[in-house]
Amino acid sequence: MNASDVIAELPITDWTGAISPEQAATAVTALEDGRVVVLPALPFALTAAETPFLDAGGLDNTRKNISFDPKTGRCNGSGYQGAELEHLSAMLQRYGRSAETLVHHLFPGYVPALERARTSFRPAEISGRKTTPRHDDRRLHVDAFPTRPTHGRRILRVFTNVAPGDIKRQWRVGEPFEPFARAFLPRLRPLLPGQAWAMATLGLTKGRRSAYDHLMLGLHDTGKLDTGYQDNAPQAHVAFAPGTTWMCFTDQVLHAAMSGRCAFEQTFHLPVSAMADPAKAPIKVLERLAGRKLA
Ligand code: SIN
Ligand code: FE
Repeated sequence: MNASDVIAELPITDWTGAISPEQAATAVTALEDGRVVVLPALPFALTAAETPFLDAGGLDNTRKNISFDPKTGRCNGSGYQGAELEHLSAMLQRYGRSAETLVHHLFPGYVPALERARTSFRPAEISGRKTTPRHDDRRLHVDAFPTRPTHGRRILRVFTNVAPGDIKRQWRVGEPFEPFARAFLPRLRPLLPGQAWAMATLGLTKGRRSAYDHLMLGLHDTGKLDTGYQDNAPQAHVAFAPGTTWMCFTDQVLHAAMSGRCAFEQTFHLPVSAMADPAKAPIKVLERLAGRKLA
């Protein structure tokens, strides 16, 4: 596979700019087909007060993502306080709002149903990071979160590389979702009777884990732990240069972030019914393969 098989580029240069109906149609088809929509000429400019935050990744390799919750207006995980924390929160808020405006222009059909979730700033260098195989996002995976069941709702993520110099964010992008799911589904164990209820009751999950969430976690874990698959599965290398914005459904696109630092990310959730073609959603693919309802 080549990068051109897995991406769709659009010449958009403005977060709030008008997008032609043709561009919007191209974007939604590419996105729902499981491509990464890449905007190579859409940088996110930082103010003078914000640029020192870029150094955080260089200084502290272990620092986790800084996360901003638009519902509370709070930042977590930064270690900053006072005026610095305010600048940081304002930066993340501004990125989140820009990403939301962009997505509204690109995917007008999603607007009534799209929900903006957390914003993150990822200052630290990815390569060389120490982690367990299951948590290692340098291994190809689809996103699935143990504590936050989605019941099939889509995960759309927008990223921008704001690294200094020419530090690219290097991804691997894998094969389409369906062949990946076909290969791994037979290996997954079913959700045990009572397991979803018990996990929700114990507060281990936010709401009940559906059969869909269980399978997605199984695909995430089994795929990451299969080193043969990681090395030999069809995949393309994609490099996102500083000044590039890109987005994809990370519950569908097999992705691995190999290296780079200083990126923003905004997560959105979308009900399957709001898609231009709901049949392309992972839950619909898995229900077809499993022959039953999964949420
Ligand atoms: C991931 O979602 O696996 C990480 C993506 C990134 O930080 O570039
Ligand atoms: Fe991921």
